[in-house]
Amino acid sequence: MYLGEPRTRPVTVSTLRKMKASGEKIAMLTAYDASFAAMMERAGVDVILVGDSLGMVVQGRESTVPVTVDDIAYHTSLVTRGCRLPLVIADMPFMSYATVDSALANAGRLMQEGGAQMIKLEGGQNVVEIVRLLSANGVPVCAHLGLQPQSVHKLGGYKVQGRDEATAQRLLDDALVLQEAGADLLVLECVPAELGAKLTAELAIPTIGIGAGLGCDGQVLVCYDMLDLTAGMRPKFSKNFMIGQERGVHGALEAYVRAVKDGSFPAAEHTFT
Ligand code: KIV
Repeated sequence: MYLGEPRTRPVTVSTLRKMKASGEKIAMLTAYDASFAAMMERAGVDVILVGDSLGMVVQGRESTVPVTVDDIAYHTSLVTRGCRLPLVIADMPFMSYATVDSALANAGRLMQEGGAQMIKLEGGQNVVEIVRLLSANGVPVCAHLGLQPQSVHKLGGYKVQGRDEATAQRLLDDALVLQEAGADLLVLECVPAELGAKLTAELAIPTIGIGAGLGCDGQVLVCYDMLDLTAGMRPKFSKNFMIGQERGVHGALEAYVRAVKDGSFPAAEHTFT
């Protein structure tokens, strides 16, 4: 559903829950600076993620692994200076939540120095106690299941997850315990569309898909990919929203929000089976 009405109040965790309940899709994008954050706000983006993807698209690295808490805190402070209405999520980088103490300290930095309103971390059962403690300390948490790019060296590459029954069931179990531990939102990356829809139906918290099909409560893309700024191949799940765009970046961002809200993105060609 695309309401087409400009948002006047900041997006909160309860806004996202209401959007899930009413069936209004959540449009989320990554951003790393104030100018992009301001353009996204104007285009009606609901949630901005300061993703550790900045390691690849901004810093030119091979993976997200070298990104530091300092990097994310700095870019989050730029993004929160550029917008007022979208909910801003800061990614917890590799090894920044390996222990409960480091997770609490680093999440605190991203909220206090960066101004983030939520933090995101990758993992299932292994991060449940950390999610529980963050949540109990008033930190809104976005969990991240499916393909976990911080584990790329362990996984042996960027592969679709949850294709067989056992791994699909593990994903579902992980999602339920993360929700029970207090996660407020769940990013699902590179899972079959059927599994994305099943998880979304089973969970009370909203799901945001990236290569997880139309059945999720919302969608996220790396903004450099959808604006055709990334060198090399675009991932299958992404789409170049600059094609046919007469109003440049502003038009492309608005087209993305519209396509997420009216359910025309992702299409079958952006989806895994
Ligand atoms: O770092 C990032 O941009 C992400 C998205 C791909 C979900 O985690």
